[in-house]
Amino acid sequence: MELLKDKFGRVHDYIRISVTDRCPLRCVYCMPKEGLPFFPTDRVLSQDEIVQVVKNFARHGVHSVRLTGGEPLTRTDIVDIIRRIKAIDGIDDIAMTTNGLYLPRKAQALKEAGLDRLNISLDTFHKDRYKTITRGGNIKQVLEGIRVASELGFTAIKLNVVVIKGQNDDEIKDFLDYTLDHKVNVRFIEFMPIGNDRETWQSEYLSLSRVFEVCKTAGYDYAPIESLQGNGPSENYQIVGALGSFGLIHPISCRFCESCNRLRITADGYIKACLYWDEEINIRDVIYDEQAFDALIQKTLNNKPENHEMALAQTDRIIDNKPTWRHMSQI
Ligand code: GTP
Ligand code: 5AD
Ligand code: SF4
Repeated sequence: MELLKDKFGRVHDYIRISVTDRCPLRCVYCMPKEGLPFFPTDRVLSQDEIVQVVKNFARHGVHSVRLTGGEPLTRTDIVDIIRRIKAIDGIDDIAMTTNGLYLPRKAQALKEAGLDRLNISLDTFHKDRYKTITRGGNIKQVLEGIRVASELGFTAIKLNVVVIKGQNDDEIKDFLDYTLDHKVNVRFIEFMPIGNDRETWQSEYLSLSRVFEVCKTAGYDYAPIESLQGNGPSENYQIVGALGSFGLIHPISCRFCESCNRLRITADGYIKACLYWDEEINIRDVIYDEQAFDALIQKTLNNKPENHEMALAQTDRIIDNKPTWRHMSQI
């Protein structure tokens, strides 16, 4: 078995598959106000294709799979997809990133099908703000989803908090406090300029060093932790005595590309070596052709950039105002 290495020696053992571009929400950092036209159903990978893609990667040492969207729970066959991926030789970790709205109904079936980990988006604890940030979402459903999921014994539950200046940066302490008595990992995420216009992004971007300032003001002692399961770029800490922990994902103010171990498959079957790189190759036609599939993956890896331009974005070097034509929900 050959491992998936790029020309900088990074081994890729984690794939993120977007199983749909559909989402009932239109979060301000993810989609334009007017929404996006969704792909026609036949443009989206089928259940069989998704399972075969994972098998192809598992032959090369990929052991961890994350299902993303849009909102993955809008797929009616999501439980079957998880069950079939779980049965693939070599796959020992299946995770999902979700907005949490449908968890009250679906969490139990997901757990039974073999889902190991859940990352849930929650940017505020306030009902009205949640409605504004998600453009219409009902926070009660998410909070109930988190409660239901917490009782089911997932290996890890993480809350994703995109920090947006002027919208939720005054809630950093509330999220830190939440970790004191909840066994979750709250991850503060820097707002990334994916598909957003540059001016909005610049005015709403906030560096996560703010989180440490809030800890200091609150008098919290915290220490780094290594033990949390994850494959992504989060740096994790725990407030002394807390049940849960918090993490920082800061692609802009701190580069994490050196340890990048992941490849992304879009809902319409393109492979992207880097979130922030426009190059993408369609793999749909070669899913059932082992040799051709492997050749395309190697081509993608050979072209994978050493690091993205994001860190340079602050110095005015974003090309054409946008790093990629896709909005986040389409990646
Ligand atoms: P685990 O560590 O396995 O739990 O996954 P994760 O944190 O990577 O997954 P999740 O989907 O919850 O992503 C959280 C945030 O990290 C999102 O805003 C992602 O877009 C961001 N992120 C994940 N991988 C990358 C990456 O390769 N590059 C950049 N720039 N951001 C990433
Ligand atoms: N910047 C940072 N994070 C984002 N997400 C979506 N769009 C952006 C963005 N522009 C986050 C969501 C979700 C995760 C998959 O990506 O909050 O939790
Ligand atoms: Fe939907 Fe997630 Fe994008 Fe929000 S961040 S619009 S929940 S895909």
